Amino acid sequence: MLGQLPDITDPNVLVGHANSDDAGVYRITDDIVVVLTADFFTPIVDDPYWFGAIAAANALSDVYAMGGKPLVSLNIAMFPNNPEFFPSLKKIMQGGIDKMSEAGVSIIGGHTIRDKEPKYGFAVMGVIHPAKILDNSKAQAGDALILTKKIGTGIIATGVKAGKCSDAVIEEFTASMAALNKRASEIMLEIGVSTATDITGFGLIGHLHEVLSASKCRAQIYSGRVPYFEGAIRLADAGVVPGGTKTNIKNYEPYVTWGKGVPEVEKILMNDAQTSGGLLIFVPSEKKDKLINALEKENIIAAHIGDVTDKPFEDGKRIHVGK
Ligand code: CO
Ligand code: CO
Repeated sequence: MLGQLPDITDPNVLVGHANSDDAGVYRITDDIVVVLTADFFTPIVDDPYWFGAIAAANALSDVYAMGGKPLVSLNIAMFPNNPEFFPSLKKIMQGGIDKMSEAGVSIIGGHTIRDKEPKYGFAVMGVIHPAKILDNSKAQAGDALILTKKIGTGIIATGVKAGKCSDAVIEEFTASMAALNKRASEIMLEIGVSTATDITGFGLIGHLHEVLSASKCRAQIYSGRVPYFEGAIRLADAGVVPGGTKTNIKNYEPYVTWGKGVPEVEKILMNDAQTSGGLLIFVPSEKKDKLINALEKENIIAAHIGDVTDKPFEDGKRIHVGK
């Protein structure tokens, strides 16, 4: 879609759409640089309050992934013209309000229209340090890859719709999607990292590919070290795979070599389209342990799932996945 947008000539656009970055970055003055993004989607969980909270956490995530600090947001809502839906809409908005307030972000307005299927999300504006913009072109050889949330929300969401998930599974994946990437972002900025992205619709492999492609690097991934939701592994084993995940597998196949020992189910999970996924942080290897310790101290997952290299693989692929 972004390919249709015209080339950007304004020199104050510091990050545009060319490298599939998480958010746009615009310089107002040398000291004032803002970061902008928008995200909305259809209900991912049945509970309206948590749908609202997840939509807010997800919209904020692209600002955190860029290294920005979100300041204000605008509500975006579409909902059925049916008075019976209004109590749910109220709960959705309350979830969004509470999550934005947890993040310290003011909702300063927005826009709502009627639509058959409800949709909810936010446009977000934040500020960013001009020297610390974590865009997709900044990964370096030697970076360790640290992932901060479990993988498998797309598969679980499909399992929930089919009535195949226990309350415990639903609770765990809801809590994970509603968790802000705020502290993970603040910690990575304190320690100093090469770059970061958040894992959403294109899955772990797709978002990793975007950064490696913009940075002209390659990566070795260890599939056994990736944190997966147990419930997602069970569902994928039983053949529950969403359409978006199948599309990702097909689209990224040309860039990936899968080692013999990698189970089929892990290949599916690493391509699973995520909602409000974790940060994938590219940290210079000498700072890796410091970052992991700081994240784990605050009970944030910090899985070292692979490493970046600038040496081409013999087969010319960008990503090699082993056990
Ligand atoms: Co993103
Ligand atoms: Co986004």
